[in-house]
Amino acid sequence: MKRILFAASEGVPFIKTGGLADVIGSLPKALDKRYFDVRVILPKYTCMKQEMKDKLKFKFNFYMDFHWKNEYVGVLEAEEEGIKYYFVDNEMFFGGPSPYSNDTIYEITKFAFFSKAVLSVLPELGFKPDIIHCHDWQTGLVPVYLHERFQQNEFYRGIKSVMTIHNLKFQGKWDVKSVRDITGLPDWYFTPDKLEYYKDANLLKGGIVFADAITTVSETYAEEIKMPFYGEGLHELLQARANDLRGIVNGIDYTDFNPKTDKYIFKKYNVDNFRKEKVKNKKALQKELGLEESDKVMMIGIVSRLTDQKGFDLIAYIMDELLSVDAVQVVVLGTGEERYENMFRHFDWKFHGKISANIYYSEELSHKIYAASDAFLMPSLFEPCGLSQLMSLHYGTLPIVRETGGLKDTVIPYNEYEGTGTGFSFVNYNAHEMLATIRYAEQVYYDNKRAWNKLVDNAMMADYSWAVSAEKYQSMYDWLLGW
Ligand code: ADP
Ligand code: GLC
Repeated sequence: MKRILFAASEGVPFIKTGGLADVIGSLPKALDKRYFDVRVILPKYTCMKQEMKDKLKFKFNFYMDFHWKNEYVGVLEAEEEGIKYYFVDNEMFFGGPSPYSNDTIYEITKFAFFSKAVLSVLPELGFKPDIIHCHDWQTGLVPVYLHERFQQNEFYRGIKSVMTIHNLKFQGKWDVKSVRDITGLPDWYFTPDKLEYYKDANLLKGGIVFADAITTVSETYAEEIKMPFYGEGLHELLQARANDLRGIVNGIDYTDFNPKTDKYIFKKYNVDNFRKEKVKNKKALQKELGLEESDKVMMIGIVSRLTDQKGFDLIAYIMDELLSVDAVQVVVLGTGEERYENMFRHFDWKFHGKISANIYYSEELSHKIYAASDAFLMPSLFEPCGLSQLMSLHYGTLPIVRETGGLKDTVIPYNEYEGTGTGFSFVNYNAHEMLATIRYAEQVYYDNKRAWNKLVDNAMMADYSWAVSAEKYQSMYDWLLGW
């Protein structure tokens, strides 16, 4: 049995702000239990839903040296669908109204604490992993601490680490002096071949340098990040580690996202009856959100963090033009940067009845939008993988995407000559190229329903469950352990 410990800052069903949580909640379940004992360790945020907090059982606590102090570390435990979860408790770090804040130095301190705690709790847990699988910058210091101090101790000897990059944009950077002080790492870790990055200290870089293997969440993104445009300043390091870097596309959990069984949607449907049943979701959503009620009009959905990663500059640029004709309706669900929140509020006011802007977070509404929409717009500037388009595909809602990262790997563009495809795509980060692609999709939707429905068929039957990708993780673990 190989023992794997996932360390991450969020995970479904306990706490979620984005796709990372979906992956942490679903990949461990997909790994073969006959060969892998996979457990997950997360922070215990006080902002977790009470029903989730109620599931946690206290195990033990101790005090850990950190940042010149002796800090409380509590450990709690829960089990969900056969997976053991551990939680690190310290209310000074994990209190507050949401998992993350905009205070960078506080975030760096908090996740340095978490990373050190992840390693420190293991002997008392009686769980010695063969591999610690770290996710994103918040756990970047785990491979560093493992290398710098823990591996001198017999218990930790031989533990391997994997660093998965879900988003290279976020790296956890701050000045060297403060980070040295917080982490207690010696001077020689802050050189350009280790944690130093253009005079700052960089936690994700530390993880990439010291991990035994590196992965990211799609094959295309694994190639893109070796280039300056997508590399966020780390492309040369990623080139240098190219032999240890692989791209494994994410899957989604079809028990949570399934139009046949979804408890949130108005009318359940499947690949055989979507022609009649799916539209009932559209009508019900129009009514719920105060949109003009019509089963004919093409509805475009957007469910997203509202950040520039997701291509909202393009959308802002063509929104007037897009909504100037009666052919489309737009439904948005998202929160994020104020400028984009206000942009959608503005268009909701200007084109009331044609667009519905829902500036909040709602699991339920997200499912209703995946089910009700005809198309799903995701014109990202960059996209490590993207899960929203995978959810859309499974609900027969055709993605309109820019060909980048995981969007390029998972959406097959419509080929009108061969009648193949699962969606629509464009190449350049250009607002009118996007608009032309939306207009093309409208044309197929209105003038060639048979072709459209064939695409829906293809989309619903495409398999983006974890089965294939979980095997790729398994062979990486095997390779790392030399088994
Ligand atoms: P990212 O992780 O970059 O935000 P992904 O496409 O990988 O993008 O994952 C986004 C996840 O977050 C999806 O599960 C999506 O449904 C969900 N999501 C994003 N915004 C909201 C929101 N406002 N309400 C509910 N779910 C949301
Ligand atoms: C990040 C990326 C997204 C990816 C998700 C899960 O948030 O932005 O593309 O799907 O992580 O890996």
